[in-house]
Amino acid sequence: MKDEKELYVTRPDLPDFGLYAEKLKQIWENKILTNNGPLHQEFESKLKAHLGVDHLSVYSNGTIALLAALKALDLKGKVITTPFSFVATAHSILWNNLEPVFADIDPKTGNLDPESVKKLITSDTSAIMPVHVYGNPCDLEAFEKIRKEYGVKLIYDAAHCFDVKLKDKSILLEGDLSILSFHATKAFNSIEGGAIVSKDPALIEKLNLFKNFGFRNELEIDGYGINGKLNEFQAAFGILQLDNLSNNIQKRKICFEYYKELLAGVKGIEFIDFTPSYSYNYSYFPIIVKDDYKLTRDGLYDRLKAHSIFSRRYFFPLISNLNIYKDFPSASPELLTNANYLGDRILTLPLYSELSREDIERICKLVV
Ligand SMILES: Cc1ncc(COP(=O)(O)O)c(C=O)c1O
Repeated sequence: MKDEKELYVTRPDLPDFGLYAEKLKQIWENKILTNNGPLHQEFESKLKAHLGVDHLSVYSNGTIALLAALKALDLKGKVITTPFSFVATAHSILWNNLEPVFADIDPKTGNLDPESVKKLITSDTSAIMPVHVYGNPCDLEAFEKIRKEYGVKLIYDAAHCFDVKLKDKSILLEGDLSILSFHATKAFNSIEGGAIVSKDPALIEKLNLFKNFGFRNELEIDGYGINGKLNEFQAAFGILQLDNLSNNIQKRKICFEYYKELLAGVKGIEFIDFTPSYSYNYSYFPIIVKDDYKLTRDGLYDRLKAHSIFSRRYFFPLISNLNIYKDFPSASPELLTNANYLGDRILTLPLYSELSREDIERICKLVV
């Protein structure tokens, strides 16, 4: 129906235009546009304070941050990861000339299953890369145990995890490294952007050089780095976004809970299991469309679309079923039964801070 207001799966939060214009004036005055300028430095320090972490390096986006993080760890051979993620997760492994090995997931959370990972570890495995899907943390204890027991590196793709905390402690301090994305679709955005967090200052120092081609100074270049620098315009945008974040997350939380209230008990609709002890950023509202629902998942997707509601099938198709990956031995659907089950049934409904109660009611009326 053409005259219905279009509702997209997400809409970005933006800072106040007047405040952003003031920051732009500062850029125009000092004429520093990029290369670790004052706003970039301010953004990095504010992020550290906000997230409660000591060592963090801002990057131009989450994908370049993932590529650089894997490179900085000097990995060889194979990296075990999840097929239930955004393609950048596996692409970053291939870009490093490493082989992705897909393990299965927990069908209730979408997160990598530590038991499935353990079965795939061989002497060629140099790292494990789980994703905290929808910002819902993986089984951190189990992965830490695997890291210690098998002596592998543990890199968390924490693209969805800005501000996710357990009793006020950031989950970004888990493993060897965590990677964030500040893409426009995320709960916290700097238009494009990303960051790497680690407890290890030497690793972050290495990654600080890496994002500027490896330049230590004018004459010395350490390692073949990349251009991963965030510019001053985006740093300014990010700084202002931090001031509104808790308010925006609160609005998202209200939407998330209203959805749960309206969809509770609908036959064939299940929610993803978010572990109650964490504080979340409410980036996504995923539902599982089970076989006893009146429509297929794609049937529901089409029904919403016909009413100008654009949900997304995050994450479908599975990475392991894409042409680029499907011939890897671990990608076989018979080995990834939970991932294929969830990938075929998952649907992410619109969720953003400005979504109104009426919008949610309109969406839910089409689901129930
Ligand atoms: C799980 C995951 N990893 C990595 C990325 C890549 O981040 P970016 O878009 O900032 O490059 C995204 C999303 O964009 C993502 O959802």
